[in-house]
Amino acid sequence: MEDFEDRVAFITGGASGAGFGQARVFGAAGCRIAIADVRQDALDDAVATLATQGIDAFPVTLDIRDRDAYARAADAVEDHFDAPVTLLFNTAGVNGFGALEEATYADFDWILGVNFGGVVNGMQTFVPRMIAAGRGGHIVSVASMAGFEGNPTAGIYAASKAAVMNLMESYAIALAPHGIGVSTLCPASVRSDIANALDRRPDELASGSSFRDDPRFIDAQRRLYAGGMDPIELAGHVRTAIEENLLYVLPFTETREGVRAHFDRVLSFYDAYDTDPAAADGRARAFLRYREEAQALRESP
Ligand code: NAI
Repeated sequence: MEDFEDRVAFITGGASGAGFGQARVFGAAGCRIAIADVRQDALDDAVATLATQGIDAFPVTLDIRDRDAYARAADAVEDHFDAPVTLLFNTAGVNGFGALEEATYADFDWILGVNFGGVVNGMQTFVPRMIAAGRGGHIVSVASMAGFEGNPTAGIYAASKAAVMNLMESYAIALAPHGIGVSTLCPASVRSDIANALDRRPDELASGSSFRDDPRFIDAQRRLYAGGMDPIELAGHVRTAIEENLLYVLPFTETREGVRAHFDRVLSFYDAYDTDPAAADGRARAFLRYREEAQALRESP
């Protein structure tokens, strides 16, 4: 997809960091921009800053965990622009660090609710609308390099991002016939405000949390992300990925060998079972046959 001019883009987490970078880059590319965020003050600042760059963004206050509010936000944006959303950026996300074995249900509910539930709500809201509009489009979901591998101090976050990556692989296949591309961006470290993510945590999911909030740790996080990739550069990579319809956006090349080592280790677990290749071959042929039959049934029910 290369025709950005006049397309309506809906960007969650658009008030800050990676989402704000997307608003700037796709606004400059000619898209009409809606930024959705849970923080009203950050939205106000973002709209004002975008205006100084000639980008007239439409702000929507939205907690992406709220399904009804998400549908209302979609209505408001499509009414405002009098056009369907054909570019969706599922960018909003939160993080928290702490020992996984001490996590509370509220820790799970918050991180999974925003990072995975919010993406589900974005897809459920916009995919039917995009298909009905018949103009194709593209969906970018922001996962994380953390999604490739378990992590005992950010285990819930890592699981939420793994779920996003896997779901997007399925959507990429499902939406291709509708001319809708799907990409998953996996950042490692971005210059953003995510070190302050605990501040976005709703009160009802905060009590008893095991996540670390000591100022020295948060400061160390701030320093880490301050050295991350510029959100404008990151959004430029996303633009290229949309133009070339790439499933994964992996611009953090410093992580490549770690990913390779992880998948090599996963593959090594097969080695103990290489004892009966004929049986394995038979099962594989049965599965292929099943797939062909299921495909034929889908095509002529
Ligand atoms: P950020 O904190 O600067 O921006 C995230 C935005 O999402 C904030 O403006 C926040 O208010 C908003 N948000 C939080 N909860 C929300 C909710 N329930 N509903 C709507 N909006 C909500 O952080 P950043 O880094 O720009 O994060 C963007 C994405 O990038 C996230 O999905 C994050 O997990 C991912 N990421 C970031 C990395 C980094 O190094 N900063 C590394 C890997 C992934």
